[in-house]
Amino acid sequence: MTIKKGIILAAGKATRLHPTSLAFGKQLMAVYDKPMIYYPLATLMAAGIRDVLIIVTPRDRKLFETLLGDGSQYGINISYEEQHKQDGIAGAFIIGEKFVGGDTVCLVLGDNFFHGPEFDSIINLAARSVDGATIFCHHVAEPSAYGVAVLDGDNRVTQLVEKPKELISNWVATGLYFYDNQAVNVAKTLKPSARNELEITDLNIKYLEQGKLNAVRLDASYRWFDLGTHQNIHDAAEFIRQNEASTGRKIGCIDEAAYRAGFIDAAQVRANAEKIGNPAYANYLRKVADTVTP
Ligand code: DAU
Repeated sequence: MTIKKGIILAAGKATRLHPTSLAFGKQLMAVYDKPMIYYPLATLMAAGIRDVLIIVTPRDRKLFETLLGDGSQYGINISYEEQHKQDGIAGAFIIGEKFVGGDTVCLVLGDNFFHGPEFDSIINLAARSVDGATIFCHHVAEPSAYGVAVLDGDNRVTQLVEKPKELISNWVATGLYFYDNQAVNVAKTLKPSARNELEITDLNIKYLEQGKLNAVRLDASYRWFDLGTHQNIHDAAEFIRQNEASTGRKIGCIDEAAYRAGFIDAAQVRANAEKIGNPAYANYLRKVADTVTP
């Protein structure tokens, strides 16, 4: 089954980023030269997804609409829903029930950054062959702050634990998830956890219990940042700055991602460039339109 729809969850309180995030959500903050949400949105585009729901706080809705509009300038459809209470990541499927309909769906957290060799082809391939659920796991030194997965040789998940106290594995579930058309139904069966949230790990465990939870391993050659702290935002920004300076290619440039995915043509990339007041960014887009063949 091919993934058709994508949800970006961008409604958290971001208390760890106060006072920076007191007036608006972190997904609107800059990570080097782009707003944070550009990075997960480019990830969805690389997976071939054109129908996108962004879940936001009522406070931030207007700002997201100003930034991204209805997505037509990127050849995609963007709609918005509000989360009024921070009641869990899996709650995204309940808020997004109408949007998902009976389709397959990808969920990406609005503060997750991915980059690496062949990352675009890996997620594009995974998005075309979803059987049950797929999580994307990264190997980290300190897994205890995350959902932690034990994987077998066939990349099946054999155990999944949210923020385990003891070390069971160094593979952590990142904030990128692909599901068949059962995610909404499964989310509806979940009970709130001890922290009173519908946990994405509990939803994934339901798939695991049916033997339908697969993993893609993103090894050490991949960079993944959970942009929930100032340190991680700083480290990601420095990584992006250095990488863009040495390769001459932007990371998370949604105009370029849309063009490379075949969602817009070169004329639209040039039209988007006209609206950008930053000459370096606009010139980059013009160069993409002139030199890249999608
Ligand atoms: O980043 C990956 C980790 O994300 C996974 O390894 C964990 O299994 C998963 O539970 C989650 O852990 P966190 O504790 O880091 O989740 P957090 O509460 O920080 O929420 C992640 C993002 O989702 C954050 O940007 C805020 C947004 N969010 C979260 C909740 C609970 C919402 O927009 N609404 C919510 O109700």
